[in-house]
Amino acid sequence: MTRKRVLSGIQPTADSFHLGNYLGAVKQWVELQEDHDVFFFIADLHALTIETDPAILRRRTLVSVAQLLAAGLDPHQCTLFLQSHISQHNQLGWIMECQTGFGEASRMTQFKDKSQKSGTDRTAVGLFTYPMLQAADILLYQADRVPVGEDQRQHIELTRDLAGRFNSRYGQTFQVPEPHILKSGAKINDLQNPTAKMSKSADSMQGVIEIMDTPESNAKKIKSSMTDAGREVRFDQVEKPGISNLMTIHSALTGNTISQIETEFESKGYGDFKGAVAEIVVEYLRPIRAKALALLEDEASLIKILHSGADKARVVANATLAKTYENLGLVP
Ligand code: TRP
Repeated sequence: MTRKRVLSGIQPTADSFHLGNYLGAVKQWVELQEDHDVFFFIADLHALTIETDPAILRRRTLVSVAQLLAAGLDPHQCTLFLQSHISQHNQLGWIMECQTGFGEASRMTQFKDKSQKSGTDRTAVGLFTYPMLQAADILLYQADRVPVGEDQRQHIELTRDLAGRFNSRYGQTFQVPEPHILKSGAKINDLQNPTAKMSKSADSMQGVIEIMDTPESNAKKIKSSMTDAGREVRFDQVEKPGISNLMTIHSALTGNTISQIETEFESKGYGDFKGAVAEIVVEYLRPIRAKALALLEDEASLIKILHSGADKARVVANATLAKTYENLGLVP
């Protein structure tokens, strides 16, 4: 049986992935490579939709790759590459822009939210065409499934619409991908503001656990996380959002169920529980961080891995683009 093809991308917009990225995406990518034909890339072109400092973009791109490899992506089992290494993304991106209605693109909620926040003069046109580039990312590789968070659902729906529309106008060209929305079960919230998702754009990083942060700093963040009223360690997202969030983290990293955790801490207080969670998180992340730091010591080898990933990706991307051009009537 042929393996299903899975594709996903992540933006290099932070100096470190945080625990929410790790549990919500990276860990699942690593699991998917076992029994799927997986393509993963760093969406460095998408990162240009906001103004970025060149040295920072470069560092964040390499640190992202190093973390993915350290977390267990194996370049022999998956195709790992940078979006900017494959010019077919931009080429198919233009074709997708020509398939998309202006109104249709204007209805993308992520664009509406972000452009409303910054105002039209400070919003790049690239932010508007972002979903069409994303559609190209996916369709170039004939992906069957696209694992993403809930916030990307609308972009995947657009991709499906564009694929179907193109296929019916110009003949079968693209696989219509299924979204694979990552379960909300392991949704990790901010440690200081535990009713909001853990996010790199939080007001303060005090509530965000970062893979590349030192073990001491992460332990401190967990021990000083927001304390709920009461004293029992019990899962209750309304009355005890802080403790419940820590229980979710514990469960995601140890595999213990919530009720096992409740039993374990039955006669203990918040202090003991926080100490235990800090220890679990720190020991879980320690080897990943150490491996990523070691990989970053040798940039040339990291870049070589990316080049060989790009060589594999390019073959597939090129075949799809050639077929697309031909079906459109562009003279070869
Ligand atoms: N827009 C995605 C995000 O911000 C990143 C992304 C770019 C992506 N291209 C993609 C995800 C293609 C999946 C498939 O999370």
